Amino acid sequence: MRTIMTIDAGTTGVTALLVDERGGLTGRGYAEFPQHFPRPGWVEHDGEEIMAALRTACAAALEDGGIEAADLTAIGITNQRETTLLWDRETGRPIHNGIVWQDRRTAGVCDRLREAGHDAAIRDTTGLVVDAYFSGTKIAWMLDRVDGARAMAEEGRLAFGTVDTWVISCLTGGASHVTEPSNACRTMLYDIDRADWSPRMAELLRVPMSVLPELRPSVGSFGTTDPDAFFGAEVPITGVLGDQQSALFGQGCWTPGMSKNTYGTGSFVLLNTGRERPTSGRLLSSVAWDLGDGPCYVLEGSIFVTGAAVQWLRDGLGIIDKASDTEPLALSVPDTDDVYLVPAFTGLGAPHWDPYARGTIVGLTRGTNAGHIARATVEAMAFQTKDVIDAMEADSGLELGELRVDGGASAMDLLCRFQADLLGVDVLRPKVRETTALGAAFAAGLGAGVWESTDELADVWQLDARFSPEMDAAERDRRYGRWRQAVARSCAWATD
Ligand code: G3P
Repeated sequence: MRTIMTIDAGTTGVTALLVDERGGLTGRGYAEFPQHFPRPGWVEHDGEEIMAALRTACAAALEDGGIEAADLTAIGITNQRETTLLWDRETGRPIHNGIVWQDRRTAGVCDRLREAGHDAAIRDTTGLVVDAYFSGTKIAWMLDRVDGARAMAEEGRLAFGTVDTWVISCLTGGASHVTEPSNACRTMLYDIDRADWSPRMAELLRVPMSVLPELRPSVGSFGTTDPDAFFGAEVPITGVLGDQQSALFGQGCWTPGMSKNTYGTGSFVLLNTGRERPTSGRLLSSVAWDLGDGPCYVLEGSIFVTGAAVQWLRDGLGIIDKASDTEPLALSVPDTDDVYLVPAFTGLGAPHWDPYARGTIVGLTRGTNAGHIARATVEAMAFQTKDVIDAMEADSGLELGELRVDGGASAMDLLCRFQADLLGVDVLRPKVRETTALGAAFAAGLGAGVWESTDELADVWQLDARFSPEMDAAERDRRYGRWRQAVARSCAWATD
């Protein structure tokens, strides 16, 4: 039986899974890594700490599965997207902490790009809105702020990578400096029609082309692990996907019109639009994957904070001990008692795009307790999802038939039921909710020839639960109207 290791290098931790050739999970490992918040609105990751967590997670998965690294047929990689690392090609050492996708420090640069009238060109070329979320302005920030960095970049001595590129570089002992379209399209430096880096965007964002990694299709060869860097084994890396596109792949949403929502740190609703590049004023047009025959596209609604708000209930407020306490606490009250929590901790993403929005709780009374706050946190995940799906339907002209869900918070029936109520469509939860990791395993298996095509994977997706809408329309509209009022109050709060 051939085994694939899939590594999901996410925002708060790294998961490693072993997947057999029938798509079954045979081993698992996980390790968190530290988050650094040097200033309000800034979020950083240390590249070496990501790699330390990755090694711990992979070792745990191998032990759990009872196999050696040398027994692996292939490795698939999926990752938090946009997070930006720059390293010295010679030493392999990062020149600064990675700037995380949630980081707002380049909001002012984005304001100036918009004021100078570049937003239409950026949207046309990259499919993205002008926002600090993406890598391009983060690269320029590091080149300008780290002593000598710009000169090193001009001389070709620096390498840029999103987390996929960084991980592959480390695992191959520096031999591969590569990426693929589902990650590249989130840098604001990639032309999604030409499927190549855009010299025009690189010039506009002041990023020397010499730092950019080589582009490959999402399945195929990305290099082989260096035994010194990967448990003494040489294993080919044969599939790479940005985590949200990977979840879409792992959810079996391979045909146009299918969509998924992942409730992770943030939430990301992706709608497969096939060979058609979608256009939208408020959502993102991105590449889903390139299986070697050209890009498949998606329309994406990116919500910055959903699951991270649960983390905040735990670490910031201390009203729960662990994430799984959220649902019982939320169920300790019959409703939120008109309390609304907008978790705009790092601004608001789609469809509002307000980097200056900040978290807000409205409707507090003397009767408000931790249960109401927990319930409002859960409901906020569903409200934010409705915001982007309404925009998606309006902009694409497509009507959502159903929504497949995954990610940690999708374990909460309360969330899935409320999501179905709000959207008025069925919400489908698969048996394997780790679809992000599964997607990259599928990609790696296709790249390694374990499977010939996605047809062979069709049976892997199995339904765990279907949630159908029950709430009456008037009540749904009333609550959604209150949510919109709460969002309006959270906007444009921060002053820089
Ligand atoms: O765009 C950011 C996204 O890729 C992060 O995903 O799962 O780490 O929250 P996640």
